[in-house]
Amino acid sequence: MAAPHVVLVGLMGVGKSSVGRALAREMKRPFVDTDSVIESNEGRTIADIFAVDGEATFREIERHTLESVLASTQAAVIATGGGVVETAACRDSLAVARRSGARVVWLSATVATMAERTGRSNNRPLLEGDREATLARLFDRRRAFYEEVSDAKIDTDGKPVTRIVREVMNAQPQSPAAAGGRRVRVELGERSYDVAVGAGAISELSSMIPTDVKRAVIVSQVGVPSIPEIDLPTHLVHIGDGEQAKTLSTIEDLCRQFAHFGLTRNDLVIGVGGGLVTDVAGFAAATWHRGTRVVHVATTLLAMVDAAIGGKTGVNLPEGKNLVGAFWQPSGVVCDTNWLATLPERELRCGWGEVAKYHFLAGDDLLAMPTDERIARCVQIKADIVAEDEREGGRRALLNYGHTFGHAIETVTGHRFAHGEAVAIGMICAAHLARLLGRIDDARVDAHYRVLDTYGLQSKLPSDLDHDALLVAMGRDKKATAGLVFILDGRNGLETVSGVDPAVVLESLASASGVR
Ligand SMILES: NC(=O)c1ccc[n+]([C@@H]2O[C@H](COP(=O)([O-])OP(=O)(O)OC[C@H]3O[C@@H](n4cnc5c(N)ncnc54)[C@H](O)[C@@H]3O)[C@@H](O)[C@H]2O)c1
Repeated sequence: MAAPHVVLVGLMGVGKSSVGRALAREMKRPFVDTDSVIESNEGRTIADIFAVDGEATFREIERHTLESVLASTQAAVIATGGGVVETAACRDSLAVARRSGARVVWLSATVATMAERTGRSNNRPLLEGDREATLARLFDRRRAFYEEVSDAKIDTDGKPVTRIVREVMNAQPQSPAAAGGRRVRVELGERSYDVAVGAGAISELSSMIPTDVKRAVIVSQVGVPSIPEIDLPTHLVHIGDGEQAKTLSTIEDLCRQFAHFGLTRNDLVIGVGGGLVTDVAGFAAATWHRGTRVVHVATTLLAMVDAAIGGKTGVNLPEGKNLVGAFWQPSGVVCDTNWLATLPERELRCGWGEVAKYHFLAGDDLLAMPTDERIARCVQIKADIVAEDEREGGRRALLNYGHTFGHAIETVTGHRFAHGEAVAIGMICAAHLARLLGRIDDARVDAHYRVLDTYGLQSKLPSDLDHDALLVAMGRDKKATAGLVFILDGRNGLETVSGVDPAVVLESLASASGVR
């Protein structure tokens, strides 16, 4: 098996050698430039090989060289010749190396930049004549190959080598844990974005910052772990804690700080925190200059599996929660599961309350998955639902499983139960309701109890609760005849069910408060 090399590909003049050398220093690895290896083995320059033996012979030598360099068991940073991707056997070798853990990074630059940089060298046999036209032609011919062989593409224009090095390292698995991390794509056409999930995923942050951003405001809270420095001028703003801080006046304060810092429409807001921060930072970004890009760094379990993904942003009014808001998709989301270690136990439990609903949204066995994989799977399920129904016209409402009962429990208990805890009990009520309506059997109700037990969540509806008050809180007096609307489990999975008889709802509450 080959070593986990970092291989740089790209046209001549993109900076593979200078970046490769600096990267190798940073990673404390040897640097290997395949063109230099060829020249040293052959005892002549590449221009000479082209002139005397022709391009076909050079490509054959290049293929052998690449194979032997990749076969080395010592992990290295390898810079390849610009045309290496034109040889099918070389593309195959790179694919094999990637399967063994190598990371191939495509460095790119504009034609003008490449022409300017290559103008300093005479050893470019393919660049005789009109340099810019030749580079443009080569780029068109090779672009699809670079895309095929690489794991990541990095634009190098106008960036110092140190920044490119950092971006390449971020595109590189840093540790076994990070190597197990993954990216989930939220497919929304030109507003699509990635969610990086896993231990160490914060290393992906800089690759999610759009390259034209000049400065960023970081919105966070005291007590939230801080993100490592990013290579941009930044201004940090702490907002308050708790729902009382999720207000229009916080948005005004934030926007005024944006103004003082000189944040433009082309810059970036970075929300670092739980769902409260990502809701507030996202809404401020949605309205600042009528829409400024935002990246979310989710630091609570609830934000990772839910709040930070999908573009719902907003704040509360005294009249109700989340009444003022906007759909504003982020440019990227980071869910570094290492941060769950500092999360207070109750916050973590509330997050598991939201994770529990995903057990009934997709058919797979989440309990059989290790934690990080399970979180990534929840992110994937949410991403798929958002891609299908961005504005909650239909399927996205299924994410509210357990919430009708849950909100009522929160209200009637005066928020003795936190949101995630109440939603968990709400799912048990919903399971009993589905059973009473003949939609699921006892075994499926038991499965709900099992999931909550696994997460250490209370499943029993407290016996001191007034069921009539719960019914009223669910929006209807028990004498109402129109019936109530719930998300309920069934043979086809979760579905919206309307017109439920309040008497059956009361029966489900009685079952949920009984001993199981
Ligand atoms: N936009 C959506 O789609 C969506 C979905 C669900 C919930 N939400 C919103 O999310 C909010 C709740 O989010 P939440 O549950 O993440 O709570 P939260 O954001 O209020 O965070 C809870 C507490 O944990 C602290 N904290 C955050 N990360 C930490 C860490 N790694 N270590 C230690 N402490 C940390 C915070 O400072 C805070 O005190 C609500 O306002 C809700 O309306 C939004």
